[in-house]
Amino acid sequence: MMSAKVYSAQPFEFKSDAIAPDKSISHRCAMFSVLAEGESRIENFLRAEDTLNTLKIVGHLGAEITDDGKIITIRSNGIQETSEILDCGNSGTGMRLFCGLLSSAEGHFILTGDEYLKRRPMKRVTQPLRSIGAKLDGRNNGDLAPLSIRGASLKAFDYTSPIASAQVKSAMMLAALRSDGVCTFREPELSRDHTERMLRGMGARVEINALETKIWPLKTPLKPLDIRVPADPSSAFFFAVAAAIIPGSSATIEGVTLNPTRIEAFKVLERMGAKITYTLNDERYEPIGSIKVEYAPLQAVIVEENIAWLIDELPALSIAMACAEGKSVIKNAEELRVKESDRIKTVVDNLNLCGIETEEYPDGYAVLGGELKSAVVNSFGDHRIAMSFLIAGLKCGMEVVDIECINTSFPNFFELLGICTKVER
Ligand code: S3P
Repeated sequence: MMSAKVYSAQPFEFKSDAIAPDKSISHRCAMFSVLAEGESRIENFLRAEDTLNTLKIVGHLGAEITDDGKIITIRSNGIQETSEILDCGNSGTGMRLFCGLLSSAEGHFILTGDEYLKRRPMKRVTQPLRSIGAKLDGRNNGDLAPLSIRGASLKAFDYTSPIASAQVKSAMMLAALRSDGVCTFREPELSRDHTERMLRGMGARVEINALETKIWPLKTPLKPLDIRVPADPSSAFFFAVAAAIIPGSSATIEGVTLNPTRIEAFKVLERMGAKITYTLNDERYEPIGSIKVEYAPLQAVIVEENIAWLIDELPALSIAMACAEGKSVIKNAEELRVKESDRIKTVVDNLNLCGIETEEYPDGYAVLGGELKSAVVNSFGDHRIAMSFLIAGLKCGMEVVDIECINTSFPNFFELLGICTKVER
């Protein structure tokens, strides 16, 4: 198991257009190209383990893929049955969206993943997909991978999801495209909307009315994609927190998506006192621009709304909370329990090791701002836990054990962290 040591930082000015490309958008680019006629052209695809696994699966399903190191092209040959076991690695997005895509494909498919993914709940997609005719199964009555799928005819649906999950919404939308009628999906809070934006851009009929999305089955194949994937705001946010906790520092992230369903954590950091400027430069599938974060003393904050819009950033935000004055609280975030690790437990336990007092709730936690202390903490195989505590190290020095997982989403993280401070691996 590899570990890394990070040393406390002097004030820095971080500016980068090389933050990892967006993971959610990259997965979707690879998968949705399979439904297009003609050649999709994807620039700045995230070359990290999760999304490269998705791309490999798309290849196993029959698509022709070329990669000149800069641009990936994908030409679909429909979805073909394969003798390969389709390995999604660590990615819940990969596995859940493939369930939706493959439910209507002709043939039999097996999806699997790593030791962490095989413990994560899949019933949230297998159950609604089964209810419209999909033939999906797995351990624990279809809840745990490996999953088997035999493509079937799908019925139109009107489904209200009990959770705000873009993975569930996207799986159902992919199923809807090949169902026998107009489908309606409802969710309790709006989750990230990359699927809606991309499918519309590719010519699908999708209508959104607040929390209700209507999807029409495809009459013709989708138009191919021509996209440059923007930087991932979730990855950018580690450097936003870095600037917000080191006096005199700033971080400017260029070419990042400014999609409102993705930048809520920056808004919370702003509420805590950091100075944040957003500049919109472009609009293609997604709004794209830059975000600049400047240090200012931080105050405690209560986070209990729009949780789906910042769920992935909560571990990093907890580091800002540890450096803020007062007691910060996160509520309504029970989904943290079923991410790459139980992030309520892993955040709370690691903060305690760093001398920060916390309170644990079933659906969140409280962080009492104080003085972060150097410690040796474990990532528990969770990339966002690893990167959050390395960022904490900018304040006080830190050793993080089990850092290989960072490659699932942000392979050049250490290179960029090296701009802010000294790092040893
Ligand atoms: C994602 C949706 C979110 C998020 C995950 C990526 C996506 O998960 O946490 O990292 O790309 O659709 P849920 O849909 O489970 O909330």
